[in-house]
Amino acid sequence: MNETAIPARRPPKLVVGNWKMFGTRRSSAEVRTLVRLLGLKRPHCEVVICPPAVLLPPFRQINRGSRLKLGGQDCHPLTQGAHTGDISAEMLKDAGAGYVIVGHSERREAYRETDQMVAQKAQAALRAGLHPIVCIGETAEQNEAGHTLDVLTRQLERSLPDLLDATEHAAFTIAYEPVWAIGTGRIPSPAQIEEIHGEIRRALQKRLGLQAAKSRVIYGGSVKASNARAILNLAEVDGALVGGASLKATDFAAIVYSIN
Ligand code: 13P
Repeated sequence: MNETAIPARRPPKLVVGNWKMFGTRRSSAEVRTLVRLLGLKRPHCEVVICPPAVLLPPFRQINRGSRLKLGGQDCHPLTQGAHTGDISAEMLKDAGAGYVIVGHSERREAYRETDQMVAQKAQAALRAGLHPIVCIGETAEQNEAGHTLDVLTRQLERSLPDLLDATEHAAFTIAYEPVWAIGTGRIPSPAQIEEIHGEIRRALQKRLGLQAAKSRVIYGGSVKASNARAILNLAEVDGALVGGASLKATDFAAIVYSIN
């Protein structure tokens, strides 16, 4: 790599709504409201919602031409095959997704997804032309034992695909979601978030060099309108992955517009 190359500019912040297993076609009303709110004033970030995959086609009719982008919540490593119940990255792309979450702690726990599987899914996302949002995060026990940084470094090393090192222009996002902060209302202090995100960024720089500047490190876990301003405007925080508070358009928009 050219030593004198100007470091790539950090991309705009990214706010992602993870709807998890919530929503039906009736939720189209919320998406319409969100599209309308985003149309009133340009937010200082990119905005994505990741609904259950079956809602991508109807939501795609609503978000067309708007500032709202769509994503999936998981993908299979392969393009197609005999894998009952699974959805490939290519299928998500075909249904209107531009992003996909991989390695969410709920999947790591419920389906025993390993770092290696997460890396394969992230690789599949890149192959399909989707932007992977790779989740990492320590459990309460690991946090209390003082192992947070070790756990995150290991997850980061193993959950990122080799393709990233080889693909010069691959854009991706790391979501730091402490497992103990998800759905609990408990969050690390802004200083702790800043420190951990700084460590993640340094690890990315070590691995990817200047290319790391194109990646984002976003925070997830109990982000709400009431705490979003304090978290999302931290220098090391490139956005948020929002669960519960993303289901209502007005709540989610309040988080989006808390970015200065
Ligand atoms: P909550 O915002 O509901 O805590 O969920 C966070 C999360 O898991 C997003 O992926």
